[in-house]
Amino acid sequence: MIKAAITAVGGYVPDFVMTNDELAKLVDTNDEWITSRTGIKERRILREPGKATSDMIVMAVEELLRKRGIGAEEIDLLIVGTITGDLIFPSAANIVCDKIGAKNAWGYDLAAACSGFIFALATGSQFIETGRYKKVVVVGVDKMSTILNYEDRTTCVIFGDGGGAVLLEPSEDDCGIQDFILKSDGSGRNYLYQPAGGSLMPPTHETIDKKLHYVQQEGQTVFKHAVVNMAEVSAEIMSKNNLQSSDITWLLPHQANKRICEATANRMGLSTDKMLMNIQRYGNTTAGTIPLLLWDYEKLFKKGDNIIISAFGGGFTWGTVWVKWAYDGSQYGK
Ligand code: UT7
Repeated sequence: MIKAAITAVGGYVPDFVMTNDELAKLVDTNDEWITSRTGIKERRILREPGKATSDMIVMAVEELLRKRGIGAEEIDLLIVGTITGDLIFPSAANIVCDKIGAKNAWGYDLAAACSGFIFALATGSQFIETGRYKKVVVVGVDKMSTILNYEDRTTCVIFGDGGGAVLLEPSEDDCGIQDFILKSDGSGRNYLYQPAGGSLMPPTHETIDKKLHYVQQEGQTVFKHAVVNMAEVSAEIMSKNNLQSSDITWLLPHQANKRICEATANRMGLSTDKMLMNIQRYGNTTAGTIPLLLWDYEKLFKKGDNIIISAFGGGFTWGTVWVKWAYDGSQYGK
């Protein structure tokens, strides 16, 4: 069977760094609370007027193309995991294909909140595995700052902007995406969501006044579901494929909360030095966290490494992907 290998990674975070101390000037919070409860020290914010999610994607995809030495016209398909596209429609993927000159590609956005990247990765891999396409770009990115209420300390401290992209190509050997388990449970939809702006509650003066276009989260409820489900599904993919903890080279957990990541590593029988983290620098970039981990740590990855990627997020949505890494990342070290 043809496997879909990740053959290049690109990423982008905005230049502006918002520290915990700066947030403490806006809301009643402090560096100690944010650090101890989440692990976050700072996050990036895209502040330039007129810049949107597609601009971050363009930066990430152009880096990926440069690294792989191919042109945008070679892309067959571009899938964007995001909940903060430039517009309600058309999709960010559509806009990006135009901006980068991907004349032969089609594309679409996939909304699965924090699981957006892994849902898109699993989806994109199918087009390679069937032999239909040779080059599929999968993106995970969010500009969370546009849907955050900077008067609500329970949400604004957590999220940030940024994301990244991977290129999927047919594997020349057995490397690539080996397996995935993905889940969703819509009964969790009101614990982490953006109430207004969709067809249920279109924008009105009242929805604006009531601040219903911002993210709302029942943190403890989401935390409890995340801890259990992300850990369970990560253990499940191991037992399903007879993987022992000693077989796993790296765990890349969605960066929502350091404590959720540690619980996942623990459930998998992994020591935390096998768990890659960058939440301290970027916060929770929703669909952006996993590709940003791949981007930041690419230089560590060696051909044949077994990487488990796991996420949990709004919806609820969650899941895990087992990737056998396909190339020596040290040549691309940041
Ligand atoms: O990425 C998608 C999935 N999302 C997640 O996985 C997030 C899951 N949830 C979490 O990570 C955690 O629930 C949070 C980080 C959001 C909150 O941490 P927590 O330990 O669950 O805190 P809490 O909500 O139980 O609040 C504890 C206290 C409360 O005060 P009282 O009632 O004990 O007086 C809050 O009002 O902390 C207070 N608080 C804050 N204090 C300072 C809440 N936010 C803040 C804040 N600064 N920013």
